[in-house]
Amino acid sequence: MSAPDPIRIRSAAVEDAAGIARVQVATWRTAFRGIVADRALARLDVERRTERWREIVAREGDLAFIAEGDRGGSPGVVGFIDGGANRDTEPPFDAFGGELYAIYVLQSHQRGGTGTRLVRALVDALLRAGHGSMLVWTFEASPFRAFYEGLGGRRVGTKEIEIDEVPYVVVAYGWDDLGALRLRLGGDES
Ligand SMILES: CC(C)(COP(=O)(O)OP(=O)(O)OC[C@H]1O[C@@H](n2cnc3c(N)ncnc32)[C@H](O)[C@@H]1OP(=O)(O)O)[C@@H](O)C(=O)NCCC(=O)NCCS
Repeated sequence: MSAPDPIRIRSAAVEDAAGIARVQVATWRTAFRGIVADRALARLDVERRTERWREIVAREGDLAFIAEGDRGGSPGVVGFIDGGANRDTEPPFDAFGGELYAIYVLQSHQRGGTGTRLVRALVDALLRAGHGSMLVWTFEASPFRAFYEGLGGRRVGTKEIEIDEVPYVVVAYGWDDLGALRLRLGGDES
């Protein structure tokens, strides 16, 4: 008999903000070292992020889910996803109804299927909210783009953003049919 899956996916609450912020800062530092300037990575601040996540999670229409699991012997947030209505107003990016704003899984917990389960929870919520398509932005230089390509994301285009006055190229992946993505993901998260 296989061991029970120790990761639980559930809707995020305002009280999860600190756990979400810790995962975001730790994962930026492992995943984006060499992609984002060291100075920007060093400046990331868990307390400031916690305040922002408190506001975001409480926002009407925001769809946030966490993955709870073992964090060094005690239970805690090991991953999260956040999404909602597409914020992009420029064509061709504005053609997508929903957006995956952010997804992070701690390095220690990656490649175990948690990211896929988080996407499934968000896609279910976006479909329930009436969105039929979805967009996501990520760094062009990031190897984690493969995660979106594996989920059938279509490369929509690129743009330049600035972090601490340093320019970065980000690429958008899109899913034109969220129902089809949901079928591809299989399983049941909600
Ligand atoms: C992207 C991320 C959320 C994926 O979470 P995860 O729990 O590792 O995802 P899964 O285990 O469900 O991966 C599913 C598939 O995606 C692909 N994949 C995931 N990470 C990959 C990587 N680094 N390189 C190549 N393929 C990758 C694989 O096909 C994988 O299946 P496999 O492990 O059976 O080969 C996580 O790696 C992460 O937090 N990365 C850093 C932050 C980031 O880039 N976030 C997204 C952009 S903002």
